[in-house]
Amino acid sequence: MSRAPESIALPPAMRASVLRERGVVVLEERPVPAPDADQVLVRIESVGVCGSDVHYYRHGRIGDFVVDAPMILGHESAGTIVAVGADVDPARVGQRVSIEPQRCCRVCKYCKRGEYNLCPRIEFYATPPIDGSFAEYALIQDDFAHAVPDGMSFDAAALLEPLSVGIAAVRKARIGVGDSVLIAGAGPIGAIIAQVARAYGASAVVVTDPVERRRHTAVGLGATEACAPGDAALDGRSFAAFFDATGVTSAVVDGIKRVEAGGAAIIVGMGDDDMLLPVSYITSHEVNVTGIFRYNNTWPTAIELVASGKVDLDALATDHYGLADAEIPLRDKPAPTTLKSMVHPQR
Ligand SMILES: NC(=O)c1ccc[n+]([C@@H]2O[C@H](COP(=O)([O-])OP(=O)(O)OC[C@H]3O[C@@H](n4cnc5c(N)ncnc54)[C@H](O)[C@@H]3O)[C@@H](O)[C@H]2O)c1
Ligand SMILES: [Zn+2]
Ligand SMILES: [Zn+2]
Repeated sequence: MSRAPESIALPPAMRASVLRERGVVVLEERPVPAPDADQVLVRIESVGVCGSDVHYYRHGRIGDFVVDAPMILGHESAGTIVAVGADVDPARVGQRVSIEPQRCCRVCKYCKRGEYNLCPRIEFYATPPIDGSFAEYALIQDDFAHAVPDGMSFDAAALLEPLSVGIAAVRKARIGVGDSVLIAGAGPIGAIIAQVARAYGASAVVVTDPVERRRHTAVGLGATEACAPGDAALDGRSFAAFFDATGVTSAVVDGIKRVEAGGAAIIVGMGDDDMLLPVSYITSHEVNVTGIFRYNNTWPTAIELVASGKVDLDALATDHYGLADAEIPLRDKPAPTTLKSMVHPQR
């Protein structure tokens, strides 16, 4: 027997920021969606703007994913549950949650072994044709709406999504106490990996970035040292793990060659599609080279890292926009001080 969905009073319509086609974002009125039996409806408070949102806005596609119908961008989001489907505990209404923005089939071999990010039927917010969360409300399955502690800001709760990318990367590198790591790129992802690597025990965390201000920020956020790519400070040094957070071939090649024998090179950056890699170095030093594609089972760890103060996400949220201005951080070149722009759909 199913019961009526539990909810608090909701308006019939909501505002949503819709990417109609490449370079065109329009504020539209949409019906507030109703949760399926296994879903919750979240009133969205904070959404981080990601490089992929900017890419879809500017180019209308990422690889084979093409925006050929209007789509709502945004996938780093947090808010409050305001309604639940028939099979969800009604006590969840009112909970503050961080959204893990993916939906997997739950039955394929990848899902069964917990690697649900590799599910061939994965659906992900703001990846065509799935709508994201630049909207006043969004739906997610019950178990992918992760409750966050009262003391955690909505900005930090939203940024548990890129933090999850960092956790997935550091887990793959299998680093331990006292290890040294090198990170190329001091954008939000590089700065997050630096903090996570420290939390996992790395003692030396060196970050490279051509932009001085970004290097400065990284040092305030977990890096023990920052320098320009190819700086003489790196000469003769090797690292237990290298993380690429740029997607730039020269950074990947340089980083791999600085990994010590038996170490790991984790390619997180998505940029150049084909790269010429130093295979003889990889072979003779048994470097474990791998990529990561998003994450699985990271939210409990992410919540713990932030709640315990080991990772600071609020410091990343530098710029703030209301929903009507969501196009600004997609369109304009970011200010030198910008690390992460946040969109606040209730403003
Ligand atoms: N694999 C995944 O699941 C996943 C998830 C999220 C993001 N990403 C990717 O991670 C990358 C980083 O994301 P972000 O939001 O931090 O991007 P970002 O563009 O804000 O940061 C990239 C940084 O790299 C620096 N950089 C450029 N060339 C460099 C070089 N040769 N050496 C060192 N630094 C260099 C830039 O100055 C910039 O500060 C992007 O490519 C993004 O697509 C991957
Ligand atoms: Zn993102
Ligand atoms: Zn699956």
